[in-house]
Amino acid sequence: MRVIDNISGLKAIIRAQKAAGRTIGFVPTMGYLHEGHLSLARASVAENDFTVISIFVNPIQFGVNEDLDKYPRDFAGDTAKAESCGVDVIFMPSVQEMYPAGYSTYVELSGEITGKLCGKSRPGHFRGVVTVVTKLFNLVEPDKAYFGQKDAQQAVIITRMARELNMNPEVVTCPIIREPDGLAMSSRNVYLNTEERKAALVLSSSLFQAEAGIRAGERNAERILAGIVKNIKEESIAQLEYASLVNAETLEDVKLIKGKVLIALAVKFGRTRLIDNIAVEV
Ligand code: PAJ
Repeated sequence: MRVIDNISGLKAIIRAQKAAGRTIGFVPTMGYLHEGHLSLARASVAENDFTVISIFVNPIQFGVNEDLDKYPRDFAGDTAKAESCGVDVIFMPSVQEMYPAGYSTYVELSGEITGKLCGKSRPGHFRGVVTVVTKLFNLVEPDKAYFGQKDAQQAVIITRMARELNMNPEVVTCPIIREPDGLAMSSRNVYLNTEERKAALVLSSSLFQAEAGIRAGERNAERILAGIVKNIKEESIAQLEYASLVNAETLEDVKLIKGKVLIALAVKFGRTRLIDNIAVEV
C-alpha cells in the first residue's frame, strides 16, 4: 500500500493502472477510520482490481461554528486499518494541495434536495461535499465509488450529481454499520461522554421502533414521526434537530408511506450532532 499526498503522484499511479487495464474502486473519507469506512473499502477491494481511499478533512464542507479544528485524526491507525483491508493507495492531500490560494470553482446542486434535512442547518455543507467529490472523481477516475447509507442525503446527492453531470463512476451505496448496541458508527462518536453515549441509543432505537410500526401496517407518516419525537423528548439530554420521513430517492416529504421511504434523524448531545436513518420499503 502506498500513501500519496500530492496530485501529480496520484495521477501517475492512476495512469499506470488504467494503462494496465485495471478497474479502479474509490472510497472518499475524512479519516479516523472505523468499521463503517472499512466496509466500503472491503466492498471496493472485492469488486475492483485497484482501490484508492482518500483521507481529507475537507474544510469547505464545515460551517463556521462546526468541528473542523477538532475533527479527530489518527494517521497511524488509519494506514494500518486501510492496509488490512487490501487498499492499494491512500490519498492524503493537504488543504493547500486541494485548494491552492485563489481557488474559485464550486459545484452545487440546486433546489430542495440540498436545502432540507442536514442541508437546512448546515448551509453550504453539500456544496463543499459535492465540490470535493467532483475533484476527487477527476483525480482518481474510478469505475466505482463507494458511499455509506449512514449519510443518506449525501449518497442521494452524489448519485444525482454523477448522473446529471454524466460522470463516469458508478456510485454504490453501502449499508449502515452499527455498534453491537445499535449506535451507527461515526468518527464523531468519540466526542460523546459516557452519559451522552448511553443517551445516543435513542436514535437507533426510535428508528427500529418506527420500522417495526411500518412493518406492522402503520402508513401514516405523521404518527410514525410523533412516536420518534416522543422517544427523543423523553431522553432529557437529547436535542432534536429534525425527524423526517421522506421519499428515499427524491427526499420529498411523505404523508402516506408507500414505496421506499427514508426516516432520517439529527439529534444533538451537548455540542455533538449525530445523524442516523433507516430505509423501509413497503
Ligand atoms: P466521512 O464522514 O469520513 O465518511 C466517509 C464515508 O463513510 C461516507 O460515504 C459515509 O457515509 C461512510 N460511513 C460513515 N459511517 C458509516 C457507517 N456507520 N456505515 C456505513 N458507512 C459509513 O462523508 C464524508 O466523510 C465526507 O462528506 C466525504 C464524502 C469524504 C467528502 O468530504
